[in-house]
Amino acid sequence: MADQTTLSDTVSLTAIRHGFHAAIAQAVDTFGATAPNPSVGCALLDADGRILTVGVHPRVGQPHAEAMALAQARTAGVLDQACVALVTLEPCNHTGRTPPCSEALRNSPVREVWIGAADPNPQAAGGASRLREMPGGKRVVMLAHRPDMADLARDCRALLAPFASRVVRRRPWISVKQALDEHGSMVPPPGQKTFTSPDSLTLAHRLRRATDAIITGVGTVLADRPRFTVRHVPDHDGRTPRLLVVCDRHARLPADWVAEMTEAGFDVISSSDLLSIPAMLAERGVNWAMIEAGPALLAAVTEAGLWDDWLTIHKTAGADRIDLKSRDESPLRLLRENVCSLES
Ligand SMILES: NC(=O)c1ccc[n+]([C@@H]2O[C@H](COP(=O)([O-])OP(=O)(O)OC[C@H]3O[C@@H](n4cnc5c(N)ncnc54)[C@H](OP(=O)(O)O)[C@@H]3O)[C@@H](O)[C@H]2O)c1
Repeated sequence: MADQTTLSDTVSLTAIRHGFHAAIAQAVDTFGATAPNPSVGCALLDADGRILTVGVHPRVGQPHAEAMALAQARTAGVLDQACVALVTLEPCNHTGRTPPCSEALRNSPVREVWIGAADPNPQAAGGASRLREMPGGKRVVMLAHRPDMADLARDCRALLAPFASRVVRRRPWISVKQALDEHGSMVPPPGQKTFTSPDSLTLAHRLRRATDAIITGVGTVLADRPRFTVRHVPDHDGRTPRLLVVCDRHARLPADWVAEMTEAGFDVISSSDLLSIPAMLAERGVNWAMIEAGPALLAAVTEAGLWDDWLTIHKTAGADRIDLKSRDESPLRLLRENVCSLES
């Protein structure tokens, strides 16, 4: 009788799960660094199921996760031991800024490739078929076809959600972050800009780090002169200017605050039309945008149904309570669950 624990031709189900978790966790760390490309991870396993290396796509113009993992294995002198590749996204099949990853894997010692999510980009899709093509074809397993791996397939979809949103819907994934005090008010006490716990603040700053743009309202700017920088966790090195969109219909945005934000690394855009912002951001290559605004703008966002997931931090007498609503597999959920190198 077939061994039910052996899903792969080569290594155990436990090893596959472990490898995927490592690839996903490391890719989550790259949220906010890769746009307009997706965050992707690739783990290479040896014939005993041990992780040889995990590669991620660090940023646009640099190698994709598969190429990184293969190069890392080559540098470490273990490439000939690579037996199984676990990739969170279907390997690309086209020559863009970098050569096709399907070819890199075909030309590698890897015998089996597990794919977490299909490529939503029609230009790059077809990698799975190419990998299977004979001669020299690889065994390919799609997580979506394995009900016993549904949790990992969901995580890979969540990892891809910001990029897939931009490519398929022509708008970024939009997350709202809102804090409420014990009385359900969003407005901090006089003289304060926040009222949440240090842990909640860290989460908010992880979200800032992970997103490519921030959307706010002029009411928040006038009340708080917020900085919107990533401070409670390290930001990505060499980050290109991030977009900061301020909804402002009556030109009340203070020029000196705009100058400060520009100095702090933001590309500040004022907008009088909330509904046009998602398409404008997608045009500029934004995969994931975060809304940090007061009650007036959030009411307009709710009415327009503009959000994809919504994080509410409830201040209580004890630890803050966090609620997360989402319309689909949520990258914010993944971010919360994968605390990687940042807070260690
Ligand atoms: N607890 C939290 O999570 C949190 C987060 C952020 C801010 N806050 C607090 O919220 C307070 C400020 O709230 P707020 O409601 O006054 O400010 P807000 O929501 O940040 O900004 C309101 C402004 O957004 C613009 N706006 C609203 N709907 C729009 C639409 N459909 N299209 C384009 N622009 C639109 C309007 O600009 P015009 O006036 O030009 O029409 C409006 O004045 C502050 O006390 C701040 O501390 C709390």
